[in-house]
Amino acid sequence: MSRIPVIAIDGPSASGKGTVAALVAQALGYHYLDSGALYRLTALDAQQQGVALDDAPELAQLALNLEVRFEAQQIYLRGQDVGDLLRSETCGVSASKIAAIPAVRTALLARQHAFRQPPGLVADGRDMGSVVFPDAQLKVFLTASAEERAQRRYKQLMEKEISANLADLLNDLRDRDARDSARAVAPLRQEDDAILLDTSQIGIADAVDFVLKNYELATGIQVNC
Ligand code: CDP
Repeated sequence: MSRIPVIAIDGPSASGKGTVAALVAQALGYHYLDSGALYRLTALDAQQQGVALDDAPELAQLALNLEVRFEAQQIYLRGQDVGDLLRSETCGVSASKIAAIPAVRTALLARQHAFRQPPGLVADGRDMGSVVFPDAQLKVFLTASAEERAQRRYKQLMEKEISANLADLLNDLRDRDARDSARAVAPLRQEDDAILLDTSQIGIADAVDFVLKNYELATGIQVNC
């Protein structure tokens, strides 16, 4: 068991967990792992290399050998800046499909564990608290209503000038929630030891505050925010 502390933030698509996790990491001076980006990268790599989304052995190989570089706000795949490509809904849907393949999940495990570096890590995804970092000091299940999440995703895409349709987004979200929750391996669900945070009615700053306060309670580590 590692002594390096981890805060695991899991939850459904567009619940705001990425934004909250990144801000919590910043407040604590911890590293940040966006585990969904690894699934998205594998899906994008598959698309670029012409690998079918149901070819489990080839996808697992891609996941194992991803040539990726995380740099501040940028993500490079084989030297190409792929930040915008990764955030597209098509990529999210493909990521959710390949994420149901056990060999892909296993192939990405070591890469995720490698993010656990001093002084600590904040990791967001679907199985951070259940599978990847089961000994995390704090586990939060961050959610919001499907309608609220669709609105947020719509706004996010508009800000990036990526065209989108609200009704389609809501349908995609519901499909993705259903697929992520129903899969046999590492399904999306609130673990017994995770604290629920519903952000339908609260803003980012309050959500960050909630996580930091609970971290302080769980560990006794003083947080200045
Ligand atoms: O940002 P959003 O929540 O829409 O998606 P994401 O966190 O980037 O994840 C994309 C897809 O990867 C999800 O729909 C999940 O199927 C999958 N995923 C997963 O299975 N396990 C994780 N730890 C993170 C993402």
